Amino acid sequence: TIDQKVDSVLNLMTLEEKAGQLNQYSGRNVTGPVHERNVNMLDEIRKGHVGSMLNVKGAKVTREIQQEAMKTRLKIPLLFGLDVIHGYRVTFPIPLAEAASWDLDAIKLSAQVSAREAAAAGLHWTFAPMVDISRDPRWGRVMEGAGEDPYLGSLIAKARVEGLQGKGFGDLQAILACAKHFAAYGAALAGRDYNSVDISKRALWEIYLPPFKAAVDAGAATFMNSFNDINGIPATGNKYLQRDILKDKWGFNGIIVSDWGSITEMTAHGYAKDLKHATQLAITAGNDMDMESRGYRKHLVELVQEGKISIADVDNAVRRVLRKKFELGLFQDPYRYSNEKREKQELNADKNRQAAKEVAKKSIVLLKNETQILPISKTVKKLALIGPLAKSNKDMKGFWSVEWENDELVSLYDGVKSKLGKNTDILYAQGCNINDTITSGFAEALKVAQQADVVVMAVGETFDMSGEAKSRSDIHIPGVQEKLIQAIQETGKPVVVLIMAGRPLVFNYTANHVKSILYTWWLGSEAGHAMADVLFGDYNPSGKLPMTFPRSVGQIPLFYNYYNTGRPPLKNDTRYKSAYLDIPNTPQFAFGHGLSYTTFKYADLVLNKSEMNLNDTITVSVNITNTGKYDGEEVVQLYLKDEVAQPIRPVQELKDFQKINLKAGESKNLTFKIERSKLSFYDDDLNYITQPGDFKLMIGSASNDIRLEQKFTLR
Ligand code: IFM
Repeated sequence: TIDQKVDSVLNLMTLEEKAGQLNQYSGRNVTGPVHERNVNMLDEIRKGHVGSMLNVKGAKVTREIQQEAMKTRLKIPLLFGLDVIHGYRVTFPIPLAEAASWDLDAIKLSAQVSAREAAAAGLHWTFAPMVDISRDPRWGRVMEGAGEDPYLGSLIAKARVEGLQGKGFGDLQAILACAKHFAAYGAALAGRDYNSVDISKRALWEIYLPPFKAAVDAGAATFMNSFNDINGIPATGNKYLQRDILKDKWGFNGIIVSDWGSITEMTAHGYAKDLKHATQLAITAGNDMDMESRGYRKHLVELVQEGKISIADVDNAVRRVLRKKFELGLFQDPYRYSNEKREKQELNADKNRQAAKEVAKKSIVLLKNETQILPISKTVKKLALIGPLAKSNKDMKGFWSVEWENDELVSLYDGVKSKLGKNTDILYAQGCNINDTITSGFAEALKVAQQADVVVMAVGETFDMSGEAKSRSDIHIPGVQEKLIQAIQETGKPVVVLIMAGRPLVFNYTANHVKSILYTWWLGSEAGHAMADVLFGDYNPSGKLPMTFPRSVGQIPLFYNYYNTGRPPLKNDTRYKSAYLDIPNTPQFAFGHGLSYTTFKYADLVLNKSEMNLNDTITVSVNITNTGKYDGEEVVQLYLKDEVAQPIRPVQELKDFQKINLKAGESKNLTFKIERSKLSFYDDDLNYITQPGDFKLMIGSASNDIRLEQKFTLR
């Protein structure tokens, strides 16, 4: 068995070699602060001091580095890991955008293609998926997750792990996944990256942990802990999270890798007195591999010799690493992933680009289309493209792209150009730069707009304005871009605004005045083609927001599954109510919102019974009809509210959804099942319970667009 093989190697290893297996160094491209220079990596590898490398890539380079590991006494192969977050060479939409598709097959496809390309480039392991729930769009890393909802987030976590890991460990078309960042990194106070997290255990279990549990259940090979402290204990030194929950309760038998330098950072937290102490705390708490703190390399041996950590903890960690190396087949052939011929064929292959385009189309959210300016006719005579992102291709790649080539990224301008025939004049003006405070480019943009039949504007963030260490206190569309929108809107021309960004932004003028708005995020290599398909009706948009869009930063954290207070505001009466003086409590765009070029009628909500006991299932059926002129997809969302409970329950919780495709005029009956698991929750002592009582079932097109509802009772 693999366990016997693992032990047969472990038994040959010296303590120093064991420490080496748990040490991970970065190659030259760094993804965190460099604490120490002048380390000769190849020398370190040859001495058996390295178990894994991150930030090296390519079939040739990985082969060359692996050759060094083959010079060690025991010839234990290296694991190569990299942040393949949304594509390798072909860049897919940022994960938050993909989450907006609510299309689990599309999300899985994206992970599969990313893994296939990465595996062909000699990689064994990606530090993805990021499954952190976040309710704070100031936090730059929301771009990397699946948004604010634990249910949607869990399904997406599963899809991504399955997509990345393919047929199983050792599948040459796939790589190891890594659920990160364990845990609650997305709850960083004030949305500032790496900040402390202070949440109740109930919030931890109910909101932040479910996607991690889903990742374990889907077979995720590895986990990464995180930079933040949680209620005073850094995640990296957190025994409750790593040993008690992940390894013991959930039975996770893979590797837990630290985040970059997060072991050494426990000294800055004030949790450890020095690197040696931090190392002791990390391994004892269950952290298996050290990414770039170099504490395991320097101190693990002496900590064992001094009796400060147990050899059993070290052996257990080494076993986890060796097991993955066996499972990947690296002991049989350490070079099996490093195949230059395959790499050449795979990277940027047509079918990979085709997949990226499919996923990109599905990630676009139609926020508004009041006078049906969209879709634009392909025979439009003069079309103006205005805005700082209209011609940008490099921003389409988003943050965490890996091996892109700028000329392989399609801008909006190029996408539109390739869609339209010679009879359309495409006019262009930049108008301003992203962060401009000056309006000197407006005059030219206005001139261009005046000549056009329809104006399409492209505004938002540059690719490096959301991502790691990219928190922002002001999440308005940056610079004078909204002023530019206003100036163009006031010409009276039909205007469509495309917002390209890595997070929910605030754009009240646009939301209130512009008739047609598409949220296009950063869509990757095929961005321009996907946007053109939507603009001209070759694809009917079907995305739904996976995060709430606030009206003001002052509302954050703002999320759909909140608790009612004792004083909820009434429509025209907010005196002595839980409200703001200056804005409504409601978001600008709600969780689950997203329109289509067609319309859907919801009817005939039937529950097969109105009472159930704990072992029962209620079958819910509903009829959806496409009542418009276009074929289209709809995400039919099911929410529940437990009307009276101790502790109180949210005003609504997403419990199920189905994405369906209906031809114009077509109807479909959908069924959902309500069973015990959908009614359960954690009480104050973290018991997972159900309470008898009344529930409200809501079916709708968005969290704030509930079309049908009914009550049922749990006896
Ligand atoms: O995987 C990442 C992590 O998400 C943030 N810090 C650096 C790691 C490796 O690049």
